[in-house]
Amino acid sequence: MVARHGSGHPLPYRERGGAQFGGVLMRLTVIGTGYLGATHAICMAVMGHEVLGVDVDTSKIEKLASGQVPFFEPGLPELLTKALDSGRLRFTTSFAEAGDFGDVHFICVGTPQQADSEAADLTYVDAAVTMLAPCLRRRALVVGKSTVPVGTAARLAGLLRELAPAGNEAELAWNPEFLREGFAVDDTMRPDRLVLGVTSAWAEERLRDAFEPVLAQGVPVKVTDLQTAELVKVAANSFLATKISYINAMAEICEATGADVHDLAEALAYDDRIGGRFLRPGLGFGGGCLPKDIRAFAHRAEELGVGQAVGFLREIDGINRRRRARTVDLVVEICGGDVAGKRVAALGAAFKPNSDDIRDAPALDVAERLRAAGATVVVYDPAALESARRAHPGLEYSTSALDAARGADVVVLLTEWNEFREIAPSAMAAVVRHRKIVDGRHALDPAGWRAAGWEYRALGRPTVAPLEKEHRR
Ligand code: UDX
Repeated sequence: MVARHGSGHPLPYRERGGAQFGGVLMRLTVIGTGYLGATHAICMAVMGHEVLGVDVDTSKIEKLASGQVPFFEPGLPELLTKALDSGRLRFTTSFAEAGDFGDVHFICVGTPQQADSEAADLTYVDAAVTMLAPCLRRRALVVGKSTVPVGTAARLAGLLRELAPAGNEAELAWNPEFLREGFAVDDTMRPDRLVLGVTSAWAEERLRDAFEPVLAQGVPVKVTDLQTAELVKVAANSFLATKISYINAMAEICEATGADVHDLAEALAYDDRIGGRFLRPGLGFGGGCLPKDIRAFAHRAEELGVGQAVGFLREIDGINRRRRARTVDLVVEICGGDVAGKRVAALGAAFKPNSDDIRDAPALDVAERLRAAGATVVVYDPAALESARRAHPGLEYSTSALDAARGADVVVLLTEWNEFREIAPSAMAAVVRHRKIVDGRHALDPAGWRAAGWEYRALGRPTVAPLEKEHRR
């Protein structure tokens, strides 16, 4: 059921209600309601489409249907309420219902790293297509959004044609998603670009209709074949990971020479060709995307016989892994060579601020390594405490930064929440045992902390501030 409404005069998505919707109203399904799928389903409904969210996890579906977002994402709970109130968003566990309902079906399931290899685990993507296809009885477009090894879409297109009663009328397209956790709503409503990987003009038209409210804002669109669309995503994430590891490699050189990587990064950033984004040195990248995506890409390239082309990604991964070990070394060093019996306050658990995601979180990796070395580690995080507690029961937990720091021999900042930037060095000095701090994310002002009597250390930054060096001469 596709209905055309209004004159098509473009309005920002905020001003759109279903009735004033300027483009083509569509019936969409979104298969997989994790970070990506839930955000996509909610935003598409807010933009005016009728949307059915589908998941095999009953508890997730019940939560969403009752208005609860099962993860931390700023702005999303409000939009979920709005979408549910509009009557345009529903949830189900039934693929038969999805097949009956949808004209376009978005696949948004996870592609984690395989347990025993660096390759991507495609179980969920394959299952989504295998379960949906037999329910497709009329012309429909299935659109993959998950991050997959190049070549997956072509294979799935064949599987779809084979299993769908609609046969060749069930078509596959690929539309990679670039959303960042913490900015998921903005990245979905106002993405940097849309990439539409298609094999027919019909598929392109369906996707342009589905994204009309986004395109109406002037968002650039790139139409490609399936394999290029798949590659754009892994190429983008590899580039971002490379930028982070590049500056962290420079930090290693700074550590050996007494130079300051913080100043170096700032000086590099003035060159527009380099730019300052993703050039923040520190503990390195984690999360559910960058680490596993670069590994899966390297693995896939090797399968294709072009492993050499992206062999550098193994080096990028290696540099990133070393950040965690070196942060632990720095904590041990500041504690006088041994952390056994020491009390460590770990500020941060999430893989980045404004998220409760602890997948491959550098913070928890460092906390666990310190515990393994004999320290008592007390963790505080503004959003990820519960998930951290479940996954790492051996660590101790506090409900505030100051509480975690009480009696600490050393404070280690591991995730750069704003809340930590706002801590007054004097307030923390009043509760710790020793004024020693390792700033794993270069988030604090060293001069302010040193002035309050703290021994401040950060990877890639000199032990003594340049001006202090000057004074010593
Ligand atoms: C990433 C991509 O940015 C996004 O486009 C893609 O869709 C999914 O993967 P996300 O995993 O949400 O998004 O996190 P991101 O903001 O990219 O940060 C990744 C990691 O890199 C975090 O651990 C962050 O702390 C770290 N990072 C980021 C740095 O260490 N330095 C930087 O300069 C930037």
